[in-house]
Amino acid sequence: MNLTAHSYLSEIETYKPGKAKVGNNSNIVKLSSNENALGSSPKAFEAYTKHAKEMFRYADGSCSTLREAIAKKNKIDAGKIVCGAGSDEILALLTAAFAGVGDEIIYSEHGFLMYPISAKRVGAVAIKAKEHNLKTNIDNVLAAITKKTKIIFIANPNNPTGSYLTDAEIAKLINGTPKDVLIVLDHAYEEFVGVSDYPNAIKLVNDHENVVVTRTFSKIYGLASLRIGWCYSSLKIADILNKVRGPFNVGGPAQFAAVAALEDEEFAEKSIKHNEKWLKILFKEFANISKIHAYPSVANFILLDFATLDFCQKANETLLAEGIILREMAAYHLPNCLRLSIGTEEENLRVLDILKKL
Ligand SMILES: Cc1ncc(COP(=O)(O)O)c(C=O)c1O
Repeated sequence: MNLTAHSYLSEIETYKPGKAKVGNNSNIVKLSSNENALGSSPKAFEAYTKHAKEMFRYADGSCSTLREAIAKKNKIDAGKIVCGAGSDEILALLTAAFAGVGDEIIYSEHGFLMYPISAKRVGAVAIKAKEHNLKTNIDNVLAAITKKTKIIFIANPNNPTGSYLTDAEIAKLINGTPKDVLIVLDHAYEEFVGVSDYPNAIKLVNDHENVVVTRTFSKIYGLASLRIGWCYSSLKIADILNKVRGPFNVGGPAQFAAVAALEDEEFAEKSIKHNEKWLKILFKEFANISKIHAYPSVANFILLDFATLDFCQKANETLLAEGIILREMAAYHLPNCLRLSIGTEEENLRVLDILKKL
């Protein structure tokens, strides 16, 4: 082939999503992608099906109704909101807008893998800041800043570790970061977080021009397949993102579904309660399994650390043989670990039962 893509693209390790299949097993329990245990918001489903017949039309390219609905709910300016095909797209757009060949982005040692992928896509270098006990270490992040740093990505809580940073830690990060470095606070799991010292990202964006928060409809509203995310930033950043995004980057029926989801407080609350309940139960149960350590989590998943690599592989194989899929963690350099998304009561109990027997 005579065509050559940018040579720096060879640095990218293609993102591997959570497995969705095991052989021909049709009775799969998929706990590998941090999806909503309760499915999707019924109001969103109804709106989506109602508007499906409009799929031949181009959508509202500026997502105006959806942005207005997000703005109302969060008491923010709709002009400072940009919607995307999942928050993944927003992360990619931010990287394309603010980093280029030879620039650096910083992310945490076991941070979400889309950060290095987004950086490498534009020829930037992804720098890892060492963690302490699988938690982002702000001192190490600040120490990694150089003249080439353009963006710092912080998932809060972090996927896959489940750990979170407090408002004091994020304040330290913002205060220690030069104003010409963009700080992206990725709050994909914000709604699940039940701790009082969790940062108010909206306020941080209002107070600091170089801070952006990204959010998603994939988790709390169960709309992962529709691909809807958004970010809140200064007007200047929103304007830039509107230049670089595709003109119709969020589908029409998806926008209607998202607006309906925002009104479905009952579903969101049910999801939060279910998650809280099962985090508690699972942590209590895992505390009694001596060869598995469950890392503390404030999100809708738990990172399980197995005493040995052999044990981890055996657990994974045993679960897979039963059609139960957890997320393997080799890509995150945590080979002894599996990440368990909180499932339904039945699913959670099946996983517990199998692991206890092992
Ligand atoms: C930390 C984090 N950020 C962003 C995303 C992307 O979510 P989406 O593109 O579905 O909005 C995920 C998905 O799992 C995630 O874990």
